[in-house]
Amino acid sequence: MAEMVKLFVNGQEVAVEQGKNLIDALKVVGIEIPHFCYHPALGADGNCRMCLVGIEDGRPPLVPACKTPAMEGMKVLLDAEHIKKIQHDVLELELINHPIDCPVCDQAGECTLQDYYMTYSLDDSRRGVEPVKKGKRMDLGCGVVHDQERCVLCARCVRFTRQITRTGELGIVNRSDEARVAIFPGKPLDNRYALNIVDICPVGAMTSSDFRFRQRVWFLKKDEGICHGCSKGCNIYIDHHREKYKDDMIYRFRARTNLQVNGYFICDEGRLSYHRENENRQSQTRVDGGVVGFEEGIKAFRSRLDTARKPLMLLSADCTLEQMWAVKRIANLYGAGLSGYSDASVLPGDGDDYLIQDDKAANRKGLELLGIDSSKESFMAALQDADLLVNFNNDLFFSNINDELRPLLDSKECIAVCSHARKLFEKAAIIIPTASYSEYGGTIVNGDGVLQLFRKAVTKNDDPHDILEITRLLGGAIVDAARAWPGIRQSVAVLSAVQPEQIPAEGLKLQSSEEPHVGS
Ligand code: SF4
Ligand code: SF4
Ligand code: FES
Repeated sequence: MAEMVKLFVNGQEVAVEQGKNLIDALKVVGIEIPHFCYHPALGADGNCRMCLVGIEDGRPPLVPACKTPAMEGMKVLLDAEHIKKIQHDVLELELINHPIDCPVCDQAGECTLQDYYMTYSLDDSRRGVEPVKKGKRMDLGCGVVHDQERCVLCARCVRFTRQITRTGELGIVNRSDEARVAIFPGKPLDNRYALNIVDICPVGAMTSSDFRFRQRVWFLKKDEGICHGCSKGCNIYIDHHREKYKDDMIYRFRARTNLQVNGYFICDEGRLSYHRENENRQSQTRVDGGVVGFEEGIKAFRSRLDTARKPLMLLSADCTLEQMWAVKRIANLYGAGLSGYSDASVLPGDGDDYLIQDDKAANRKGLELLGIDSSKESFMAALQDADLLVNFNNDLFFSNINDELRPLLDSKECIAVCSHARKLFEKAAIIIPTASYSEYGGTIVNGDGVLQLFRKAVTKNDDPHDILEITRLLGGAIVDAARAWPGIRQSVAVLSAVQPEQIPAEGLKLQSSEEPHVGS
């Protein structure tokens, strides 16, 4: 537990964490100190001078808050006239060469410079000379587009490539008003985290070619979510919007801070995986090649399950714990086998020592905890015996089907409960559309054993049914995520005390246990 100290801000007493720099320490108690160059992941650089504050203890009249640790009894001045004056002066300096065209800037609505001008300046321009011309729409690589004229030279982007990715592609060249961020000739950005630069740039100088000018940010609804691109479970914002007469669509994923899971950043592949959420969705219910209503599809589903000699149910390792539990119960009900096998979901060597994991499934730990076998051997053996394969959204498996499995699969009748239309699902006798992970909520356990809760973000016009709802319609007793938990708690020792609604925002690190699974 961090030690707290009492200090005074403009004469008002507040309790903050000792030793934290004043920007972060006072932010916790709702006091903002404006700043450009400081970022908690990159530390203090001290180059922008926007954070200058007064300390009444005989020090120089102004000190950078980003480099000043909170100490007992400190008297911090934020609203003195000389501090307001320096804020005006810094903003005037930043705006001398900055284009004054916020309405056509992609960053408008989430720009620190725009916000600070409105809060701390509102001065009329005194510029009497032509602004310095610099590079516009520069392709820096990895989908990052740079506008040198909008840059405030805070060097966050440069420090990101030096300190975080350690690839060092960016630098600041030239001096004074000719200074600019640049890549080395012929050496564009080349790392798997480059688009984080767009998030950390405080102004519209770094934009993403994927997102720029596709949507005004004030129209976007920002929900919290968890990336399902790999077993890291990085925290994200899901920014989505329903245009008039259209469906709710995701426009971007952005990094959401979780110091226990992903820190401040996410990888580019995960960031861009929102496209997969939008595209190629399975919306039709089909039985024996014909389009039918959802209820009719469920009726046919039940009837095939009732008549099957030996059904086998295949779960996606992306499903939530609650969905896995519900499918496990339904498999028991129909006397079906159950597997979580997926042959393409682990890419050995693809991961790195930062965030990206070899395992591309979001909740393989969940399969382990619930005692659901994911081995190829047991799946192959069960498939040999089975006459009906019911696939609950196991798209990873179908993405890399191999010659050994293909003939075996071709000989079985298949029912696909799927969120996305894929070539191999077309062969299924019955296709039931289901929700994808941005359209339902639940709990997942990442590869490091951190249990996280996420909630439904996107509501489609034709809102697809969650797997939980589909198992209920098949006769299961789990009607919602909460009803799954008494069984999960009883069955899994490490989850026996978990109350999903009380899982902290940064997730709950599960204690390892020799025997996590104690029964079914
Ligand atoms: S491009 Fe953005 S992050 Fe980089 S130095 Fe300029 S303002 Fe800072
Ligand atoms: S590291 Fe994995 S979980 Fe994190 S953003 Fe990338 S793909 Fe998503
Ligand atoms: S944030 Fe302190 S000098 Fe830039």
